[in-house]
Amino acid sequence: MDYSEAVKIYSQQLSETEFKRIQEFMLKQLGVKLNPIKIVMVNSRLIKRLKATGIYNFKEYLDYALSIQGKRDGELERMVDELTTHKTEFFREVEHFHFLRDIVLPEFVKGQNNLFQIWSAGCSTGEEAYTIAMLLNEFKLANPGFNYSIFASDVSNAVVVKAIRAIYSNRTVEEMDKRFLKRYFLVSRDNNEQKVRVVKELRDKVQFSVQNLVDNYPFQNNSLDVIFCRNTLIYFADSSKKKVVQKLTEKIKPGGYLFVGLSETISQYSTEIKQVSPSVYVKKQG
Ligand SMILES: C[S@@+](CC[C@H](N)C(=O)[O-])C[C@H]1O[C@@H](n2cnc3c(N)ncnc32)[C@H](O)[C@@H]1O
Repeated sequence: MDYSEAVKIYSQQLSETEFKRIQEFMLKQLGVKLNPIKIVMVNSRLIKRLKATGIYNFKEYLDYALSIQGKRDGELERMVDELTTHKTEFFREVEHFHFLRDIVLPEFVKGQNNLFQIWSAGCSTGEEAYTIAMLLNEFKLANPGFNYSIFASDVSNAVVVKAIRAIYSNRTVEEMDKRFLKRYFLVSRDNNEQKVRVVKELRDKVQFSVQNLVDNYPFQNNSLDVIFCRNTLIYFADSSKKKVVQKLTEKIKPGGYLFVGLSETISQYSTEIKQVSPSVYVKKQG
């Protein structure tokens, strides 16, 4: 790109009308609320897309990205990916995994249930789902009769593809318990690679899919033991949050659990759930 082209792209400014168009789209399609203050962030992130598509003007870019053609070409998805955060990590908010291991699983086996079913909703690149898989596998080793299914989904196809590939940089597992690292990851023999991959045995335990939380879910009511929906609803508008919390709750068995991110509170959105630990809710019986 020459100097004059660079100036042309980087000097583009989203107008209020264009920003409102994006706000409306994100709210309607994803439930996500973009506060007016986000205009600066949206501007700078979408400049990357102008550069990549060669459309050096926001109006024309939006006409394209939001069109049927833009959807077909995958540009709409790339735009959404720029505007959503996919930050995640293995064992993020570790107290939730301790709660799962120490309270939820022992309670489940005591209840003589058969298949433990858990859903990581808003799974990003898969670290949360694989952390759950490691814990459940450990639990199974100690309790051979225990069986489980893990579902994981995200609205972004790009992150789901990464999750299925399950290849991560060495940095992401630096803090991990070495026993887990040894048992559940393959380390690249090439020192320049700096990559690890989740072992097949664990990859096979997670069923990934693309799922928008504002749409219908492919689960029966009262069928799931646990849903993790952490650090996802935090970006939603209040009205969409309420609908999603109620829809998620419907899918959980009475006595089952809903986990949200540690900075989130959801008791105000449903009378069917009760908080039992920070950001952990149980679905009331009957
Ligand atoms: C910050 S990540 C959270 C990842 C993981 N749950 C964690 O706590 O580490 C939020 C994810 O929610 C996804 N997301 C945003 N809106 C969504 C929607 N309407 N339906 C499903 N996923 C959505 C984003 O694509 C992103 O990957």
